[in-house]
Amino acid sequence: MAKHAVVIMPGDGIGNQVMPEALRALRAVGFDAEYIPADIGWDCWCREGNALPARTVELLAKHKLGLFGAITSKPKKEAEAELNPQLRGKGYSYFSPIVTLRQKFNLDTCIRPCITFPGNPLNFIRKKTGDGFEEPFVNAVIFRQNTEGLYAGVEWTNPPADVRSALAIHAKFKPFVDVPGSDLAISVRIITRKAAHKICLAAFEWAKKYGYQSVTICEKPNVLRETSGMMEEEARAVAKGFPHIVLRSTNIDAQTMWLTKDPENYGVVVASNLFGDVISDAFAGLVGGLGFAASANIGDEVAIFEPTHGSAPKYAELHPPIVNPIAMFLSAVMMLEHVGEIAKAQSIREAIASVVREGRVRTYDMMRIRGGSESLRRGAASTNQMTDAVLEKLARQPAVLQEEPVGVGRAR
Ligand code: NAI
Ligand code: MG
Repeated sequence: MAKHAVVIMPGDGIGNQVMPEALRALRAVGFDAEYIPADIGWDCWCREGNALPARTVELLAKHKLGLFGAITSKPKKEAEAELNPQLRGKGYSYFSPIVTLRQKFNLDTCIRPCITFPGNPLNFIRKKTGDGFEEPFVNAVIFRQNTEGLYAGVEWTNPPADVRSALAIHAKFKPFVDVPGSDLAISVRIITRKAAHKICLAAFEWAKKYGYQSVTICEKPNVLRETSGMMEEEARAVAKGFPHIVLRSTNIDAQTMWLTKDPENYGVVVASNLFGDVISDAFAGLVGGLGFAASANIGDEVAIFEPTHGSAPKYAELHPPIVNPIAMFLSAVMMLEHVGEIAKAQSIREAIASVVREGRVRTYDMMRIRGGSESLRRGAASTNQMTDAVLEKLARQPAVLQEEPVGVGRAR
């Protein structure tokens, strides 16, 4: 029997192109695992009226470890139009399967490392005050609360009378009291102290483990006094247990501005759901963008690893595939770290670093050219060729791996 069992959910579009490449890398480092394929995504919705079939949920509940590619989701009307005609009008409605998974398994901790690979032509550069440019080394890890906040899903257009009357007891609701229901949309931002505490604690523990000197809480407590206020309060409470780590506090709006000023000054950053989503994409843009952005969704029992990118439908039908598999590789690397296969994780990371540093093999995004089949004629590597390059580096690494713990990047 294999040591690990991983539920494999390629999903839609390019999820199906990058997942097999990640499995090649995992096999190349000798990850001892059984891979159990599972259905998820748009095809499941169209066929069965459920983008997250119960059989997939059962597999995850059983094996506790998942690797996910990407899914397609479309607006309500298109979702209804593409549903199997036999299921239409029977009360089926589309929900994002990945958001549902996060909630179903309480995958409340989302980790998104954004770390520079030297030599990546997509790295952020900054003009010096004198002549020339400099490339700051970004080594940030974003901790995003993954289940609550504005993504909790408690929302209405035309809210029921009970909701309206409950809101009417709040003085600030006065300007909205007479807005007709059909013209009134409400999304509730829910933060619980328990979840706020947990994400802040996870951020500080990571900082301690990997030698980061600061944790930045990125919220907006001057305006969102209750919800962001509670996040900030819990960050302060948790910080007391980590006297050697500095707690910094920024507002989400200002943070996106400062990001391009001094990104090297941030270590671990923690935020609620929407702000964490925003700030992790913003940081990812400094270190290569979607082709490089990986994430972990961690719960008490189940953990699922996925690239940040979606299904990129416009490239999904191309043969050979052209998209960058590195974000998927890095998601697999995070999975290896999660299950304690540190040396294997480090091997893949080093192989990627070496391919990027050399710069001989680059997918179209790394060349800053338009995607499409013609990108290959212009010298871009295909998805497959990028994997080949990484595997070639792996093959050249010393066979005996040191089993010593290493972080996701250079500690600071
Ligand atoms: P997307 O991430 O799929 O693609 C946006 C663009 O980024 C692509 O057109 C492509 O130019 C580039 N890109 C993405 N992944 C890349 C890769 N690995 N290598 C090189 N370039 C890459 O986002 P988009 O177009 O907004 O959404 C497409 C579909 O994906 C939608 O149905 C959306 O709902 C879904 N989506 C799913 C996500 C998930 O599964 N977690 C996340 C984001 C979007
Ligand atoms: Mg996002």
